[in-house]
Amino acid sequence: MEPAAGILGSGSALPEKVLSNSDLEKMVETSDQWITDRTGIKERHMAAPDETTSTLSVKASRRALEMAGITSKDLDLIICSTISPDMPLPATAAFIQHDLGARACCAFDLAAACSGFLFGMTVAEQFIRNGRCKYVLVIGAELLTRYVDYKDRETCVLFGDGVAAAVLGRVTPPSGILASEMHTDGRFADHLYIPAGGTASPASHETVERRAHYIKMRGNELFKVAVRNMEDVSRRVLEKAQIPASQIDLFIPHQANQRITEAVRERLGVAPEKVYTNILRVGNTSSASIPICIDECVRSGRLKRGDLVLMAAFGAGVTWGAVLMRW
Ligand SMILES: CC(C)(COP(=O)(O)OP(=O)(O)OC[C@H]1O[C@@H](n2cnc3c(N)ncnc32)[C@H](O)[C@@H]1OP(=O)(O)O)[C@@H](O)C(=O)NCCC(=O)NCCS
Repeated sequence: MEPAAGILGSGSALPEKVLSNSDLEKMVETSDQWITDRTGIKERHMAAPDETTSTLSVKASRRALEMAGITSKDLDLIICSTISPDMPLPATAAFIQHDLGARACCAFDLAAACSGFLFGMTVAEQFIRNGRCKYVLVIGAELLTRYVDYKDRETCVLFGDGVAAAVLGRVTPPSGILASEMHTDGRFADHLYIPAGGTASPASHETVERRAHYIKMRGNELFKVAVRNMEDVSRRVLEKAQIPASQIDLFIPHQANQRITEAVRERLGVAPEKVYTNILRVGNTSSASIPICIDECVRSGRLKRGDLVLMAAFGAGVTWGAVLMRW
């Protein structure tokens, strides 16, 4: 029988501090009503000054390792999906590896924005199936509030901080990843980006004055691409696995906007009760979004052995992808 890769344990970590819509009302010209109606978000979490992408990752990873019943020494590979690293250099995965007390295994960051966790799962799956790795830690970690302009009402209402991790390893079929896809289309790179701080525009007084280190977004255009691509990629993985959408037990979409989730759900013909959403209290945490949902579903008993779960994401790049797995 072909070996299969699946999730052996999950863990998440949300910062304690909550930033509510009424907090934002005091910062920009907006209203709780507008944010709730247009996005479905009521609150999001915000890291404390002494918290970093790696410190929260270590917390979430310890929980995932514990659930998987292994130690950090057992890990063969650590993939940290993030576009909000501790520092430009070295990879945040290196800090996580050290702080977890893992062996000097391979550890790297993956930059695919909100699709990053699904890209990471797909990379991990290859190494597990070909026998190169027994246990892979995949982390989705973002402290996006550090990159959000709290003078820009279109973006500051959306993003929050959070981290989640999963230990992937061999599972016995029919459990495991059944199909996955990863895509990038750089034509839409200007829909969501941070102009400065990289080689194109190194940090300077001038870039700081221009507020060029913050997230810039073309929300309307992104909305349409998101719905189209998430629907398309979901259909493709279902078709690959020859499973109709009606058989899905749980649909976990990237939590970007409740209206995007609703549009994709409706187009796919998935029943409303089969969709998991936590956007109301977590907001958009980019690559942490799907693994936080997974961890909440596992710990609350919403996700049970044998369940068929479809995950779909899109993000800056633009990137998009989907993973279909039997729990
Ligand atoms: C950003 C987003 C919520 C905006 O919602 P929308 O319904 O498309 O709203 P529009 O952009 O059409 O703006 C409508 C009006 O609301 C205003 N508006 C924007 N943000 C606002 C806010 N926070 N509070 C109040 N009004 C706001 C706009 O200025 C505009 O005003 P105008 O008509 O006077 O010009 C929505 O486009 C979206 O979610 N896009 C996808 C973004 C995303 O997912 N990004 C992350 C990708 S991983």
